Amino acid sequence: MKALVLAGGKGTRLRPLTHTSAKQLVPVANKPVLFYGLEAIRDAGITDVGIIVGDTGREVREAVGDGSAFGLDVTYIPQEAPLGLAHCVLVAREFLAGDPFVMYLGDNFLVGGIRGLVDAFRAEECDARILLTRVAEPQFYGVAELGPDGEIVALEEKPEHPRSDLAIVGVYTFSPAIHEAVRAIRPSARGELEITDAIKWLIDTGHRVRSHFVTGYWRDTGRLQDMLECNRIVLEAVEPDVAGTVDGLSEVSGRVVIAPGAVVEGSVIRGPAVIGADTKIIGSYVGPYTSIGEGCVIEDAEVDYSIVLADSAIRGVRGMTHSLIGRNAEVTKATGVPNAYQLMIGDHSKVQVRA
Ligand code: TTP
Repeated sequence: MKALVLAGGKGTRLRPLTHTSAKQLVPVANKPVLFYGLEAIRDAGITDVGIIVGDTGREVREAVGDGSAFGLDVTYIPQEAPLGLAHCVLVAREFLAGDPFVMYLGDNFLVGGIRGLVDAFRAEECDARILLTRVAEPQFYGVAELGPDGEIVALEEKPEHPRSDLAIVGVYTFSPAIHEAVRAIRPSARGELEITDAIKWLIDTGHRVRSHFVTGYWRDTGRLQDMLECNRIVLEAVEPDVAGTVDGLSEVSGRVVIAPGAVVEGSVIRGPAVIGADTKIIGSYVGPYTSIGEGCVIEDAEVDYSIVLADSAIRGVRGMTHSLIGRNAEVTKATGVPNAYQLMIGDHSKVQVRA
């Protein structure tokens, strides 16, 4: 069995970060989202992995390499434009050959792995086994309707009046029958070849499409609040490990990881939190559910429930919360004019200030 990981796409919902980098590489607890997926694939006993890449392909290749660091054998498959999830299956035809495979959306975050799904697919002959989870607002998802034996009898994309609360999660297993399906369907109104249409085609042509329920936590990390929520979930279970230097004036409590080379001086760090290698925390408060990347400087600042990417600086700022700060960014105190905001922010950025 092979795996097809989708790491192309536009990432419009995570702009401006995705103007310059791949959304699948935004870190959760200082580890790219994509890496969690690759580890889940390996833990399910699959080593042959194709990764679909688009405009950010170079960065994805640099991060994942040949896959050996994960115990995987990775092949990169360029997609000329993000023409849909089913289009990814089309362009991966040669790599997938006649093998069954698991398709994993590279920005999806799943606690509990995919072994259960993969084992169930291997154990029982069918053409697709789709991961489902119950959601509160099914109208925003692809929604499945099940028959008496757990087979999927109907699928609807973002239905106005959902017939169930079972949303399709971004991990699917397919037999080679999917290749005929992706060739048979036409682009949707938004111009993409939709995987839900391909699965519908399988159902309508009498193929067996089964369901499998997510046992743990699942999120699509496409939006800021989802990233922060995944970060919270992972940090809640992080193993405390203080390898960096903490001076006697500092207080570190709860689940906290301080990577080698990091320095904490005169600060309070209240976990769960992770502090990346070579980062300096000086005279600051880092509160729960915060991940600070490597090479950052947090000085005379208060940050909680946030993700800060590598090589950024936050100085003289109070009450920073629910924030996602990109690489090499700077948030500092405005000087001169009292109560002033001095901003230089990228295209499509979102800044919320005290009114
Ligand atoms: P989506 O989140 O559905 O799409 P997107 O990446 O374009 O994001 P946004 O809605 O914010 O603009 O994609 C799910 C995953 O599949 C994601 O990891 C990107 C990847 N993908 C491809 O590799 N090729 C594609 O053609 C599409 C549509 C997505």
